Amino acid sequence: MYSGASNLVTTTDNVFFLIIGISVFFLIGISATIIWFIIRYNNKKHPVAEQIHGSLTLEIVWTVIPLILVLIMFFYGWAGYSPVRDAPKDALNIEATARMWSWSFKYPNGVQTDTLIIPLNKAVVLDLISIDVVHSLYIPAFRIKEDMVPGRTNKMWFIGQKTGTYELFCAEYCGLSHSYMFTEVKVLEQQEYDNWMAQRSDTAAQAVAMAVPGAAGRRLIEVNGCLACHSTDGSKLIGPTFKGVYGQTITISTDGQTRQITVDDAYITKSIYEPDVDIVEGYRKGQMQSYKNQLNDQQVQQIIEYLSTLK
Ligand code: CUA
Repeated sequence: MYSGASNLVTTTDNVFFLIIGISVFFLIGISATIIWFIIRYNNKKHPVAEQIHGSLTLEIVWTVIPLILVLIMFFYGWAGYSPVRDAPKDALNIEATARMWSWSFKYPNGVQTDTLIIPLNKAVVLDLISIDVVHSLYIPAFRIKEDMVPGRTNKMWFIGQKTGTYELFCAEYCGLSHSYMFTEVKVLEQQEYDNWMAQRSDTAAQAVAMAVPGAAGRRLIEVNGCLACHSTDGSKLIGPTFKGVYGQTITISTDGQTRQITVDDAYITKSIYEPDVDIVEGYRKGQMQSYKNQLNDQQVQQIIEYLSTLK
């Protein structure tokens, strides 16, 4: 009954091939006519041009045929597009958040991931949230793409119809690391999905219960996209590495004034809430958004705890 990775593949591809088919037909037809005219009305064979005045038949033919063709394209285009706007009521609602330059997904039970995991044959609605600039969520295999505009929540929905792993890209130029802003969609059998979710909820709870040093902070860093710009192995990315940062003496500049400080809780908190105030030497302003509305003081404390484990 279906073909393709999502419920939107067949209708989208049909419209695409219809338009391609019509275009190729006219490309060949018009090219052939041009060539035939070149030969037929060649100056040697046909030195004096003839004028044709008024042909009602011709006018009707070249008005009505294209009109029918564009109406056919419109009809199939609309028939494919209209369901895309109309999500089923019982769909699984997941919050998709985009930021420069990473993705996070939040499930109804509060579980957060950096990869989108969905159950097979179940309608999924994504609430599309951007916290900084315009991004666009694009899953080529599902034939769906939608802009994510800061300040408004767009929506998209689809049904994963084949288990597997598919690419998910940002399709709107959003700054330096736009081309690295990708992740994956995994479509799992319902049973597998339930197991994954149960395990996921357990591990999060367990980590907190067992108080593994920094485990909660590590999760926050993963799901908030910090690792797109900060490494944990000492390598230099867009921002300074997290490795060994806690307790380190660094040079920072504030409004052009440089000074040396020791990285402590207060400095890290300030760097998360007001990243553009104290800039570490060798890095640029304007690369990081404030996480004031994303992370509360307790979560920042968990991140600090994690950073202090990275020796
Ligand atoms: Cu986000 Cu490009």
